[in-house]
Amino acid sequence: MRAVWITRAGGPEVLEVRTTPDPAPGPGEARIRVHAAGLNFAEVMARQGLYPDAPKLPCVVGYEVAGVVDALGAGVTGPAVGTRVLALVRFGGHAELVCAPVAQVVELPDGLGFEQAAAIPLNYLTAYHMLFRVANLRAGQRVLVHMAAGGVGLAVLQLCRTVPDVVTFGTASAAKHDVLREFGCTHPVDYRTEDYAARVRALTDGEGVDLVLDPLGGRDWKRGLRLLRPVGQLIAYGFANLAGGERRSVVRLARQASGVPLLTPLGLMNDNRTVSGVNLGHLWGRPDLLREELTALMALWHSGDISPRIDGVYPFDRAADAHRRLGERQNVGKVLLVPAA
Ligand SMILES: NC(=O)c1ccc[n+]([C@@H]2O[C@H](COP(=O)([O-])OP(=O)(O)OC[C@H]3O[C@@H](n4cnc5c(N)ncnc54)[C@H](OP(=O)(O)O)[C@@H]3O)[C@@H](O)[C@H]2O)c1
Repeated sequence: MRAVWITRAGGPEVLEVRTTPDPAPGPGEARIRVHAAGLNFAEVMARQGLYPDAPKLPCVVGYEVAGVVDALGAGVTGPAVGTRVLALVRFGGHAELVCAPVAQVVELPDGLGFEQAAAIPLNYLTAYHMLFRVANLRAGQRVLVHMAAGGVGLAVLQLCRTVPDVVTFGTASAAKHDVLREFGCTHPVDYRTEDYAARVRALTDGEGVDLVLDPLGGRDWKRGLRLLRPVGQLIAYGFANLAGGERRSVVRLARQASGVPLLTPLGLMNDNRTVSGVNLGHLWGRPDLLREELTALMALWHSGDISPRIDGVYPFDRAADAHRRLGERQNVGKVLLVPAA
């Protein structure tokens, strides 16, 4: 099979399409012929050598695929060969074939195409899990989401619309604000030209917000904490500030690491604040929970409440362009890889 390999840490030029023997599904696994695979910010960081969870290099990354079951491992009775599915995989998704534990394989509803399906698992699960399991979003609350025009950000905005009267503040560069509004963002904020914290404070008469969803990390976590109203919650779910260019920078790493706020239970208690963390990649030990949330998302797709925005679809041999698109912050929504042109 063909797959996109990260041959070593570096710029997009380190990616190579290589051919290796087809994988055989192990006990409890289904093998999927991939029609589309999601490319995520984490995988761009993995290529830069900045993602501690990535497999040892050289490796094939990829957390999510949509395709057709083409073989079953020992002890597996379904989904049947030929079933259209999406799956969460802990790496190896940027390939023509990938094996996944059947607990992480979900049948696609009729009408949901492979590309739309591959855009759902990581982005929408992250958004859904944060809003409805960790934060318990309620009617009328105020939510600040960073990287709002990215895959997770747009998913957050769409899901916030399913709860009445939620007010959303989304940071993104100005050229992306129309799309943010289309996805329900009440207040797009151009973080590149204005102080987003000052803007959010002004828009809320100084009160701040109930929930900050922050994948930026470092100093932004500190700023987010200061924007919380009493009983507010900050969810940390990424450290994008570490990846400011195409390559790793030790100076940037040190600066951002020194900005991480130091918190104590006593301080949180006295401030009536909650700080939570979400890392979907570390929830693989809870397939019951992931499956329940994926099933809820399939229902939301069915009811028309969610519909991912595809930014671009790149064949494997243009994977470097796909990485560049994310690395240069050009994407609005999801970037996908497909095996052939
Ligand atoms: N913890 C989890 O389980 C989990 C799961 C999925 C994703 N994440 C995290 O969520 C974040 C968003 O992921 P995604 O896949 O939605 O991203 P994405 O689609 O690649 O979106 C990235 C966009 O965010 C904006 N941005 C703002 N500040 C940035 C910065 N410091 N570095 C890079 N881009 C920046 C850029 O747009 P503009 O500047 O033009 O507005 C960029 O185009 C990442 O940090 C990722 O690691 C975490």
